[in-house]
Amino acid sequence: MTFIPTSVLVTGGAGFIGSNFIHSFIANNSDCTVTNLDCLTYAGNLKNLTALEGNPHYRFVKGDIGDAALVAGILADQRIDAVVHFAAESHVDRSITGPEIFVRTNVLGTQVLLEESRKHWQSGAVAAFRFLQISTDEVYGSLGDTGYFTEETPLAANSPYSASKAGADLLVRAYHETFGMPTLNTRCSNNYGPYHFPEKLIPLLIHNIINRKPLPVYGDGLNIRDWLHVRDHAVAIETVLKTAAPGAVYNIGGNNEWKNIDIVNLVCDLLDSRLRRADGENRGLITFVKDRLGHDRRYAIDASRLKADLGWGPSYTFEQGIAETIDWYLANQEWVAGVTSGAYREYYKNQYDGGAA
Ligand code: NAD
Ligand code: TYD
Repeated sequence: MTFIPTSVLVTGGAGFIGSNFIHSFIANNSDCTVTNLDCLTYAGNLKNLTALEGNPHYRFVKGDIGDAALVAGILADQRIDAVVHFAAESHVDRSITGPEIFVRTNVLGTQVLLEESRKHWQSGAVAAFRFLQISTDEVYGSLGDTGYFTEETPLAANSPYSASKAGADLLVRAYHETFGMPTLNTRCSNNYGPYHFPEKLIPLLIHNIINRKPLPVYGDGLNIRDWLHVRDHAVAIETVLKTAAPGAVYNIGGNNEWKNIDIVNLVCDLLDSRLRRADGENRGLITFVKDRLGHDRRYAIDASRLKADLGWGPSYTFEQGIAETIDWYLANQEWVAGVTSGAYREYYKNQYDGGAA
């Protein structure tokens, strides 16, 4: 059974994955309207969406997912029939130094969104409805040298970030089990690609290499992450939204494990040639630093259920994806400079606050 949404509420659509999803979804669904609800934290950047300004199928609302009245108004006014929930605090290191906002946004904010969605769905205002939670493989905790996370792996989050995402993940399950709400839940591995905020490993490496700044590698650099191109993730989300059975949980991953140090070396080497530097020059910037507290050792996703049930698989090879990503950052230095200087916040004020400081 295919579900065809007509009016989608995307939360956190000014962030990295949300903005890539909106671009991809609008391009693929010309009859559907997207409302982007984002409160524009440090990670939200409307410059990720300038190409959609003036598009009649897209609207932006500045606001917090924890604002029940605002959320209820959008759901009713826009006759929303699908919520795709990206909005979150997303950086593990920030969750170690300041966990409170992670609980407020990721747990309490998700609860408000779920509750208002439940009322809207039960009011019968729309014929069909879906609530899709963007969860993460980090809810499963950490793996040893072998094995994979499946959808049956018990949740065992280790960082304040992943614990708050696990809380949201279980609330979504609870709304399905308790109320029969048609929820969906996807748990994806690490994403990379355009519009990635340069506090995360891959964009941070690219930015620091260009500027000849040290490349901080946590601990021994042998932690493993499983990388997926953000555009493959966007297509997987759309596939789950339209074709998964209500209540379903799907892992999303590209079967693409890398030790951190190998990624660091690869990005250094690809940028040696692009920046016309000597072979091996960028590797000289690598600096091993104190390990992240509670640093998960290995993530590896088994996404075979998604392939078997819904036919999704990644289209990017890592070689192609990482090369394209590096070239995107080199071609979009203005975007990176805006993000690192905070100038993107001025852009928002001019666009939506009438220039008020
Ligand atoms: P991001 O930090 O780039 O973007 C988060 C967005 O949410 C920002 O635009 C921010 O302004 C917005 N936001 C934060 N709090 C809000 C609130 N209270 N109300 C409204 N908007 C708010 O994050 P991302 O990397 O794009 O991740 C998006 C989602 O995907 C998150 O839920 C994250 O847990 C999940 N996820 C991320 C990855 C990854 O590799 N980045 C992997 C798996 C899952
Ligand atoms: P990150 O991009 O923060 O994603 P996550 O912690 O959600 O997986 O980090 C990816 C890996 O890279 C993780 O093992 C931590 C490591 N890392 C570094 O070694 N140095 C850095 O400066 C950063 C940001 C991350």
